[in-house]
Parts: sequence; C-alpha cells; structure tokens
Amino acid sequence: MAGNWKMYKTPQETATFFERFTPLAQGWEKCDIAFFPPAIDIPEAVAATRGTNIGIGGQNIYWSKEGAFTGEISADMLVAAGATWVLIGHSERRHVVASETDADVLKKTQAALSAGLKPIVCVGEKLDEHKAGKTNEVLVKQFAAGVAGLTEEQFKEVVIAYEPVWAIGTGQTATPEIAAGAHRLIRQEAEKRFGSDAAQQLRILYGGSVKPDNIQGLMKEDQLDGTLVGGASLDPDSFIKIVHGA
Ligand code: PGA
Repeated sequence: MAGNWKMYKTPQETATFFERFTPLAQGWEKCDIAFFPPAIDIPEAVAATRGTNIGIGGQNIYWSKEGAFTGEISADMLVAAGATWVLIGHSERRHVVASETDADVLKKTQAALSAGLKPIVCVGEKLDEHKAGKTNEVLVKQFAAGVAGLTEEQFKEVVIAYEPVWAIGTGQTATPEIAAGAHRLIRQEAEKRFGSDAAQQLRILYGGSVKPDNIQGLMKEDQLDGTLVGGASLDPDSFIKIVHGA
C-alpha cells in the first residue's frame, strides 16, 4: 500500500503526519506500506519512520550517477538519504511536468535497481486512449519498451502500478473489473517475457482515486495486490483506513 504525496507537504508537515500515522500503523504486518514524499521531505520521513514497518521512497530519479543535470537527483542520493523505494514513470512525469518516455522509464528502472532501490513502475492509458478502446495496446507498448528490457533477476524486484490517467485525481476510479482486466493483461505480458512464476509473483498495484470507501471493492479482485494512493494518502486517518480496508 503506497502513498504518493506528489508536491504536497513541507518537512514540518511530514513530521506532523508521521507523529499521527506511525502509531496507527504500528505492528501492521499484512502488507508493505510505503510513502513517496517530495525529495526535500525524505530525511524527515526516514527519521520519523526508523524502526517501523513503513518504507520511504522518492518520486523520481535521473539515471546517471551524478553530473550536470540541474534539478535532478540520482538513485544513489536517494539511498544515501535512507530511501528504499522509488516511483518511476508516474503519469504526471510522462504527461505533465516532463515528457518521460518508455525508454526513459527503462533507464531509470535499471538505475534504481543497480542502486538497490525497489522501483514501482507506473503505466496507464490517457482518457482519449481509454475512450478509443486502446488501453490494451498502450499497456502492451509501455510494458514492452519500459519493462521487458530488464533481466529476469531485475524483474523480480519490480512492482508495477496500473494507473489509468483518467482516474488520477478525478474521483473517477476505474471499476474493479476494469482494473482487474488491465492487471490481467500486464500479468500476461509479464508471463510471456519472464515466465509464469515471475508473473504470478509480480505485485501489481492499482492507482487512481483510491479512497477509504472504494478500497474494499477494488481489493476483492485477486488481480490487485495493493494500491498507489495520491490525494487520500495525505491525511493519516484516511490512509490508515485504506490500509486496513485492503
Ligand atoms: P489520486 O492519485 O489517488 O489522487 O488519484 C494517484 C496517483 O497519482 O498516484
């Protein structure tokens, strides 16, 4: 169960969040819990969750180890700050704040894995693609160009998040059936490339307007292994309800 904070919260607000959230999540072992705060909040989040079952990750990395790349951070820097996870290829990076391509996604995923970070690779179709019935085509292409180039060893460490762009921040959650169908397709692609064991062990999260009141319906689908939550992860009480609901 992952919380993507996007560009919300200062270090002080991060500390306040975990003062409330950490006790609520204490001892919870039924799933992994990870938060993706803005990079500047990571040291605060790591300090606040040390010794707990909560992991902290970055929202993005650049694939080089270091260099003249103003505004970017590397996988090694995230590790040095105490992060263990990273989001790769979130739709806001693909379509809003940068124009990340599937080739970028592959390079970033490889860089994350080399540094020992666990990547959550995000895929999903845009509204026009959804309306045009192109969801499967888009997912197959994103998997082929963004993930299939990994080795079998690398793939074992990867989590995939299916996030239909039309469902992100819109309140329009995909129905459990739509989400399960997309997850099934991703798992089939994984099976073709990496074999059936790897496909079955692959964790696929759903993301897009996940809330306390729709989590149970979504998680009833066997295909869903967890969720990536944006807006509803900013409030400790709302996110713990999602964790417990799942
Ligand atoms: P949302 O965002 O839950 O606010 O729709 C999900 C995401 O972008 O990861």
